[in-house]
Amino acid sequence: MGVIDSSKLVQWFNQVKRDLPWRRTKDPYAIWVSEVMLQQTQVVTVIPYYLRFMGRFPTLSHLAEAEQEEVLELWRGLGYYSRARRLWEGARYVVKMAEGSMPKDYQSLLHIKGVGDYTAAAIASIAYEEQVPVMDGNVKRVVSRLLRWEEDVEKARSRRVFLEYLGEVIPGDCPGDFNQGMMELGATVCTPKNPRCEQCPLQEDCEGFALGDPQVYPVKKSK
Ligand code: ADE
Repeated sequence: MGVIDSSKLVQWFNQVKRDLPWRRTKDPYAIWVSEVMLQQTQVVTVIPYYLRFMGRFPTLSHLAEAEQEEVLELWRGLGYYSRARRLWEGARYVVKMAEGSMPKDYQSLLHIKGVGDYTAAAIASIAYEEQVPVMDGNVKRVVSRLLRWEEDVEKARSRRVFLEYLGEVIPGDCPGDFNQGMMELGATVCTPKNPRCEQCPLQEDCEGFALGDPQVYPVKKSK
């Protein structure tokens, strides 16, 4: 199985990364807000919403004490309101169950109602530098091309193998940059159509590139 040089990815990320408001903080609550907003929405759209949201609810307790209506009102225009409701409920849960302090690792973050694998891994790796990989649609595409993965990427087995693979290559000293680098690579270089392989820091390690057909991955079999 092709093994990547993760330091090349991290170096690339540090060169190209945009200066985004949530990249200036290690506050797990702020990272949580940003990751929930980024789940179905593009960066440029998220920025003003994130800034307004953090202005009004600068801490977890501000959010927990707010009325749900006000939270939804601030979310208006971002869409997918269930995200906002889950975030608000999660904040209330943490304040009630953990006396207002954010859980300190991946496993305990998962105990928050409404926080799934992705969000827990993003918060743990970015805010706490815990060595746990994230996998969103962009990361899935990147890995499927690195490995020339022929199976349906939506299968449970694919998910397991990809997470195992990522778990082996994620660096211990900067897991947050690695995870954000993988997501950024998928969003900007390893795109669904016409990937910009000439700009890719992982080109040498990519089986899809080596065999000339990266764009046929990820394989999605119709259900
Ligand atoms: N997409 C969602 N969260 C992201 C992050 N932290 N960095 C880059 N892309 C992302």
